[in-house]
Amino acid sequence: MAKTIANQKTKTTAKSPKFVSIQEAINAGDGKTVSIRGWVYRERGSNKFKFVVLRDSSNIIQCIFDRKDFEKSWEEIDQLQVECSLHLTGTISKDERAPTGFELHVTKYELIGKSDSYPITKDQSVEFLADNRHLWLRSRRMTSILKIRSTVFGAIDEYFKGEGFYEYHSPIFQAVQCEGGAELFSVDYFGKKDVFLGQTWQLYAEPAIFALEKIYTISPSFRAEKSKTSRHLTEYWHAEMEMAWADFDDIMDHGEKLLKHIVKTVLATNFEELKLLERDISKLKPIVEKPFIRMTYDDALKILKDKCKMKVEWGKDLRTIEEEELTKLYDVPVICTRYPKKVKAFYMTEDPKNPDVVLGCDFLAPEGYGEIIGGSHREADLEKVKQRLIDDGEDPIEYEFYLDTRRYGSVPHGGFGMGVERVVRWICGLENIKDAIPFPRTMERYKP
Ligand code: 4AD
Ligand code: MG
Repeated sequence: MAKTIANQKTKTTAKSPKFVSIQEAINAGDGKTVSIRGWVYRERGSNKFKFVVLRDSSNIIQCIFDRKDFEKSWEEIDQLQVECSLHLTGTISKDERAPTGFELHVTKYELIGKSDSYPITKDQSVEFLADNRHLWLRSRRMTSILKIRSTVFGAIDEYFKGEGFYEYHSPIFQAVQCEGGAELFSVDYFGKKDVFLGQTWQLYAEPAIFALEKIYTISPSFRAEKSKTSRHLTEYWHAEMEMAWADFDDIMDHGEKLLKHIVKTVLATNFEELKLLERDISKLKPIVEKPFIRMTYDDALKILKDKCKMKVEWGKDLRTIEEEELTKLYDVPVICTRYPKKVKAFYMTEDPKNPDVVLGCDFLAPEGYGEIIGGSHREADLEKVKQRLIDDGEDPIEYEFYLDTRRYGSVPHGGFGMGVERVVRWICGLENIKDAIPFPRTMERYKP
């Protein structure tokens, strides 16, 4: 941990100049005088000069203090440490050797907040960075991911609003399960024990399509999955949609169009961030340009056997390793459909042509990233839904409110859920889902 500087105060200026972002300062170009503010990203000094690379949310720039201009305050300047916050005014000049091609020759400065010696230095362990997540967020890597994440959230809203969906919200405290009882977090709700954190909005969304017809949300979901994989969080952001009068193809079409819109928007907005993350953009272009691959579960088993030498017994769900190998064969997501009924949730419509499979779809991202969307058409037959709840060990009485959706003017409908961090992980090309969210919650970590 950092040592403490006694009585550290944050100064405020009486009259501040008009600040521009570092990127705007760079754009202003050679010879322009600008005022910028930010944090010291790197520093080094000599007897004559102090070099500070200043960072703000937009970019970094090298700033030079010439001792002869600052003789009186040289001691303070000489001691500037990484993460001090500063106001700087100076002249921009082009310099090929500077990290972003430009430098600021400082004419005026103000130290706003001192910094203790910063605990994050080069080559630290993953654990150390996780313990210091609140500080690691300032890294250029995390800043880039968080910008892309922000673009993704915006693009989801934009897509659904553009398609005439209403934004709608479900409760997080719920008394039903939807995606498997074993993965519920229970909450002590004033002494009551049958309250859980929502795994999905779905059972509270279906009742609302009778009012709004087309709805979507972006909300946290919770899964008590005992999985320590690179794609499981216990708390994640879930973008979900539900739609009245929809057939199975409508659901898949929206999933495909949504993903295309997200990737297209990120490519148009976050070129610099993708570059900083060393993401191979040529891997993302096909997502926008080419149709996704649609195949049934039966097709997937055949391809796995023929091309990947992997034998999956019919009736078993696809495991991570099988999804990985399957998706490595394509440069666009695979939409896998018609899974065996017994591996999928109780609400999925039985395929009219084959009651052993359901009209459910998983979108599997390429390059081995695996499932990013899960969706389905919803079973309309009240008795079938009830029976499948019983088969899952549930008491249909608890689901009465939900079963009313099948009693009063039921219509064909369906929807899907997209794991936003899974999409961010894939787009950014991250090794682990943990870096796709500011403060990841996993089986092992719930602090800081
Ligand atoms: O496939 P899932 O479980 O489907 C549902 O929850 C449906 N009720 C959605 C719906 O039809 N409205 O979850 C949907 C998506 C997955 O495809 C995955 O992207 C993400 O949620 N997801 C997770 N993301 C991170 N960590 C986890 N533990 C996740 N579990 C699911
Ligand atoms: Mg799923």
